Amino acid sequence: MRVRRSLLDLDDLSASDLHYILDYAGRIEASPDSRTLDGVACANLFFEQSTRTFASFNLAQLRLGAHVVNLSPKDLSLATKGETIEDTVITLAAMGFSVLVVRHGEAGFPGRVARAFDGHVVNAGDGGRAHPTQALLDLYTLRAEFGALAGRRVAIVGDIAHSRVAHSLIHGIRRLEGQVTLVGPQAFVTQADAGDGVSISRDFDAVLKEVDAVVLLRIQHERFDKMPLTMDEYTRNFQLNAQRLATMRKHAIILHPGPYNRGVELDESVLSYAGWRYARQVAAGVPIRMAVLDFLVHGKR
Ligand code: NCD
Repeated sequence: MRVRRSLLDLDDLSASDLHYILDYAGRIEASPDSRTLDGVACANLFFEQSTRTFASFNLAQLRLGAHVVNLSPKDLSLATKGETIEDTVITLAAMGFSVLVVRHGEAGFPGRVARAFDGHVVNAGDGGRAHPTQALLDLYTLRAEFGALAGRRVAIVGDIAHSRVAHSLIHGIRRLEGQVTLVGPQAFVTQADAGDGVSISRDFDAVLKEVDAVVLLRIQHERFDKMPLTMDEYTRNFQLNAQRLATMRKHAIILHPGPYNRGVELDESVLSYAGWRYARQVAAGVPIRMAVLDFLVHGKR
């Protein structure tokens, strides 16, 4: 019988699973020829736009030797012919698909898919809730830089409230025993986000001088109606710019899940900063997704 192992959020993974995936991704990165999903049928179902996540899942599947079908949601029968998502995925399972990668604007949607589908489901982002593979590649990048995260402090800056990336990453950093400081205006970071090992600050300048890594986020305008502060207020207080870069610790690095908006959460000087790790993160996306797919299909080995 097939084990229906899925990845819906990082809390599906124990600390040991998490280390296993990160280590395995490291081995794949060193030697990428690993066709362990030879002939396994994977379908990608992206109801929301995506560049990095979609392309890297595709490349990961192809590198593993999988058979890949990209379904365009607007062309599916569920769009106009009244078929439910549950009946759609039951149909895909009957056809022989073993893996579904799902992105959707509704929190919990990949969970619904996982309950109906006799196979493995990977959440590629659901609403503002979770984005586990992004968090894994962020953790991979942090680990590559610092080794263990225990005793390291990471600032996550900006629109935490609407960021599935932040929600999964906070969880992952804590699992690896790092400390998190959330920085942003009241409307984007509330006291309720604080917790064990997770502090809140409104003072970006003070936090910048102390942290080992800064994760910048895009303002997710598509997830709310009205910007709660002016852009000028936002950039004055929370944009990482040349002046602020100069105050960072020498070893500190900067991450961004992308897409980034120049002139909003960062200015051009960040893009040429020695500690800017965006390209490293994007590169890690392929081996991380290969490792996740292999882990879901084959388990630890
Ligand atoms: C993000 C997403 O879609 O959740 N990007 C990504 O997957 N790398 C973040 C965003 O849209 O700002």
